[in-house]
Amino acid sequence: MTSMNDYKQASPLSETVRYEERQGVALIVIDNPPVNGLGDTVRRGIAQGIVRAQANAAVKAVVLRGQGKVFCGGADIRQFNTAAATASPMLRQVNLSIERCTKPVVACIHGVALGGGLELALACHYRVADSSARMGLPEVNLGLVPGGGGTQRLPRLIGVADAARLITSGKHVGAKEALQLGLVDAIFEDDLEQACMAFALSMADSHPVLPVLADIQVPPPEGELPDFDRLHIGINPKARNAIAQRAAILCVKSAMDLPFEQGLDKERELFEELVAGEPSKSLRHMFFAEKEAAKFVGKDCDVAEGHICRVGILGAGTMGGGIAMAFANAGIPVVLCEREQAALDRGMALIERNYQISVSRGGLTAEAVKERMQHIQRTLDLSAFAEVDLVIEAVFEDMAVKRDVFVQLDRICRKGAILATNTSRLNINEIAAVTRRPNDVIGLHFFSPANVMKLLEVVRGELTADAVIARCMQMAVAIGKIPVLVGVCEGFVGNRMLTGYWREAGFLLEEGATVQQIDAAMQAFGFAMGPLAMADLAGLDINWATRKRLASTRASHLRYSRVADSICEQGRFGQKTGAGYYRYEAGNRTPISDPFVEALITDCAREAGIERRRVSDEEIVERCVLALVNEGARIVDEGIAQRASDVDVVYVNGYGFPAWRGGPMFYAQSLGWTQVLAKIRDLHTRHGEHWIVAPWIEKQALNDILAQP
Ligand code: COA
Ligand code: NAD
Repeated sequence: MTSMNDYKQASPLSETVRYEERQGVALIVIDNPPVNGLGDTVRRGIAQGIVRAQANAAVKAVVLRGQGKVFCGGADIRQFNTAAATASPMLRQVNLSIERCTKPVVACIHGVALGGGLELALACHYRVADSSARMGLPEVNLGLVPGGGGTQRLPRLIGVADAARLITSGKHVGAKEALQLGLVDAIFEDDLEQACMAFALSMADSHPVLPVLADIQVPPPEGELPDFDRLHIGINPKARNAIAQRAAILCVKSAMDLPFEQGLDKERELFEELVAGEPSKSLRHMFFAEKEAAKFVGKDCDVAEGHICRVGILGAGTMGGGIAMAFANAGIPVVLCEREQAALDRGMALIERNYQISVSRGGLTAEAVKERMQHIQRTLDLSAFAEVDLVIEAVFEDMAVKRDVFVQLDRICRKGAILATNTSRLNINEIAAVTRRPNDVIGLHFFSPANVMKLLEVVRGELTADAVIARCMQMAVAIGKIPVLVGVCEGFVGNRMLTGYWREAGFLLEEGATVQQIDAAMQAFGFAMGPLAMADLAGLDINWATRKRLASTRASHLRYSRVADSICEQGRFGQKTGAGYYRYEAGNRTPISDPFVEALITDCAREAGIERRRVSDEEIVERCVLALVNEGARIVDEGIAQRASDVDVVYVNGYGFPAWRGGPMFYAQSLGWTQVLAKIRDLHTRHGEHWIVAPWIEKQALNDILAQP
């Protein structure tokens, strides 16, 4: 692209938009880092640029482009729900002024044109791109519909069926596909700006009548119409953005049913409804929370020095195999080491089977699988780890086994290699202490299935070096994970919170709720799965072992539910044994209610002297969710998580908390901290010391009171 020096002659149209005239072309340049978001000053600047270009007879054509990495990343999301978002001119007006300009306006797209950025480009008469550009209307991912005419112009440009697919999925398309769809008019490789200026001038000379999408008739030719009913049925009601997807279909339908201006009105009406609602606010919170969580600024962190190019994985079980796939999928070579041939063969067979499932579903080609499998070298010899940059240990969850393994890794691995453990709950400081390099030891807590789940808890030990953390955070992003930095404690962030959540579920069972009622209530709240079905999936024996390990540390005056223990005592460990809180038929994961368990629960309640009563769904949701919130607040207080939003990122991406509620901490904030504090104090009074309120919540409530006018 053109350098800054070329713009010495450029004059500002606003704080974020420059204007220049060259060779009969007016260049309007958006310069609003980091992604040229369409904030108020950008909208104002572009509108003024169009007026100026229109007024100068020497200008034959207009080119609109972005400074920096991208053309435009869309509306400035941070400005939503503020006065700046609705400051005049709105994007609708800007787009109409572009569309009605009598000189050809060409969008010059590099990097991305997303959301409002693509809507801006759609208002231009022509669009050209470089070959690496990506385009899309991803608003549904934020719980929104496009609000700047995208749902009305895109169907007019590429047909209703393709437009409906792009708008409801929120997916990006690359320049090549965009060209095939007719979304862009040309792709240029070198000096995009110069090529775009030449293109604009040639259009001015050869095309006296400009293509204006607003003037095009929909519906398009027969055969291109989508089946709107099928589109509706195809929406997964549990999808984080189901509401926005339904609204997007309505918008596209309006493009067919209504005149252009009325279609714009309908789109705006739905946009405004969604942007004011909690689901979109929550999804926008998640967008920024996930970006924030991945940030780590430490001392002495020259990450460029420490790229992770080769990884050793110890243990080819459930986790080791999935972790190997996660790296192989990102093109990073892996050495997978087991203690015996049979386990290694089993692990590799499982990896192969998982890949074959992707091939049979059309997600991967056979060649891609071959390439990925070639990235996974197998061995029974630990010395194969001598040259790797990072080792991830995924052997049994047993401190003695882990210590033994780390002594060996310390001996074999080269200086500077990172030694990581995938432990779910064990103390990383204890593991680090058996090595001569505790600074290089870290926890990398992947979630199962590790090749699919996006969350990665990066666990910082007492002595872990900042540079090691920074390298791991960067590696996580490179393999498509969402990293969250956490400190050492029992269960880190996610599993620690789960303890309180399951504790309340156990108490509620004793008090009179049924297994199905608890799961149904939590699913109705929005969880992907209820807590008890989830426990069956994870395996009840794992938590039983943890409870036994921690039994001596449990305060005797605190209430304890024996329900989970008594289920385990029957050899019922969940899905893997065909029975847990539910029973399961062979080869089928559907939970079936089991009167045997109901009888066990009644016995536990009787032994504990609890008189069973009718428990409401509201009580179930309140106690389970507030248990998460209170523990999450403690975790923030103790510095185990860096920020409350990190707790949300963990819980949404690892534990099925509904993203459209923004995670437990954001949800609590939207309820209001004063109200949350009052509810937890009440639970403390009624249900005892498990409910001692976290001081962090008291602070939030006080801040809220002080902030009131
Ligand atoms: N509004 C406001 N800020 C935005 C933004 C937007 N539309 N898009 C990105 N940003 C911010 C990010 O929060 C980040 O800020 P930070 O540096 O303070 O953390 C910064 O821009 C860079 O974004 P990042 O995602 O880290 O850069 P990238 O190069 O990996 O990706 C995009 C750039 C544009 C592809 C990506 O940010 C994206 O998909 N943005 C959302 C686009 C969208 O949904 N637009 C429709 C809005 S309705
Ligand atoms: P698993 O039993 O499926 O696999 C463990 C593997 O390690 C086995 O194949 C075993 O043969 C191998 N192994 C044991 N000792 C070894 C040694 N000395 N050298 C080489 N290989 C050895 O266990 P898993 O579920 O994959 O769990 C592994 C680790 O990941 C545990 O620490 C566990 O807590 C953690 N984890 C598990 C999950 C989960 O959902 N399963 C989730 C997150 C973290």
